[in-house]
Amino acid sequence: MNNLIVTGGAGFIGSNFVHYVVKHHSEVKHITVLDKLTYAGNRANLAGLPKDRVELVVGDVCDAPLVDKLVQNADAVVHYAAESHNDNSLLDPSPFIQTNIIGTYTLIQACRKYDVRYHHISTDEVYGDLPLREDLPGHGEGKGEKFTPESRYNPSSPYSSSKASSDLLVRAWVRSFGLRATISNCSNNYGPYQHIEKFIPRQVTNILSGIRPKLYGNGKNVRDWIHTNDHSRAVWLILTQGEIGETYLIGADGEKNNKEVLEAILKLMDQPADAYDQVKDRPGHDMRYAIDSTKLRQELGWEPEFTDFEKGLRHTIDWYREHEDWWKAEKAEVEAKYAKNGQ
Ligand code: NAD
Ligand code: DAU
Repeated sequence: MNNLIVTGGAGFIGSNFVHYVVKHHSEVKHITVLDKLTYAGNRANLAGLPKDRVELVVGDVCDAPLVDKLVQNADAVVHYAAESHNDNSLLDPSPFIQTNIIGTYTLIQACRKYDVRYHHISTDEVYGDLPLREDLPGHGEGKGEKFTPESRYNPSSPYSSSKASSDLLVRAWVRSFGLRATISNCSNNYGPYQHIEKFIPRQVTNILSGIRPKLYGNGKNVRDWIHTNDHSRAVWLILTQGEIGETYLIGADGEKNNKEVLEAILKLMDQPADAYDQVKDRPGHDMRYAIDSTKLRQELGWEPEFTDFEKGLRHTIDWYREHEDWWKAEKAEVEAKYAKNGQ
């Protein structure tokens, strides 16, 4: 593969993928990162990468002439760029519609024109939410109680509905125009370099800043946590060995409710178990996500390497402690925005 385009490659998950490919796949000669460097993008996430192999193009995935120019010289596109935060989408949906829907449309049109392989990064949130296990017969151990690639699309927020829209565009371009595309829908990622607006880094940097952590509602909402390194390995496998037109779900059996995650953070950071505030819940807050990743495991042989959540969390906490320069300047602004919203 001579030239791979990674959109959103200066963000949390996209930059992890770029580092992964550079480290493990010398057959990829050149990576073009196309990133607008919004509040969530950061050049520092690409620090240390070889300049002769990785090039950052600062630009918008909705810019059709730029996308056309880049895609015509590419072998494959992996599309991470997105507005990614649910809370922001509830305050102002407009950039979500623009970037997540129009941006995807712009990329798949170019990939169609030049017959370029396309991989679409999406989320488990397109499937809406599941009931809590405690509310399911047999406590949810039976078939059909996790998301599968056949689950019905049922998104809840402006963010997840914009991602669902983009998935459907890709599916239609495969069927109608023969676009050589695959889709992956992954669960909640954690690890270093995640923006401090998100749950885990927000609470860790709150504690490091002397601010009490903030839990939405009663904290019973369940997320299915996966380390971002495991996500990147899965995307590479799908890009190189996945079947065109197929959807793969990526998850590492990491279900935990938010209260459990927060208590684990408090314990690892030597704080009392009740040293947090319960704040206003997120409107439309999805209750539970859970991924059935059987297809990815059986067809492509993927297994997660980070199976010890507490160990991964400790490493993540240490990273934020040691990289205050990466997050400190933004902290006050992020918290002021939440405070204005009662969160
Ligand atoms: P992020 O917000 O950390 O990064 C997004 C990146 O996209 C940033 O670098 C930003 O500058 C860039 N970007 C935004 N708008 C752009 C535009 N118009 N043109 C070019 N670049 C633009 O997000 P993330 O958490 O790394 O998520 C990346 C992708 O993975 C998204 O598509 C998201 O839906 C998906 N995803 C995320 C998770 C998760 O837990 N974070 C889970 C599953 C799927
Ligand atoms: O499931 C995949 C999705 O995971 C991705 O598609 C999204 O891009 C990513 O942001 C993430 O979405 P969530 O909304 O689940 O993540 P977030 O970190 O915002 O919140 C995780 C849970 O924690 C959620 O139930 C809301 C709760 N929460 C969040 C914040 C910021 C709190 O209780 N307190 C907080 O301060």
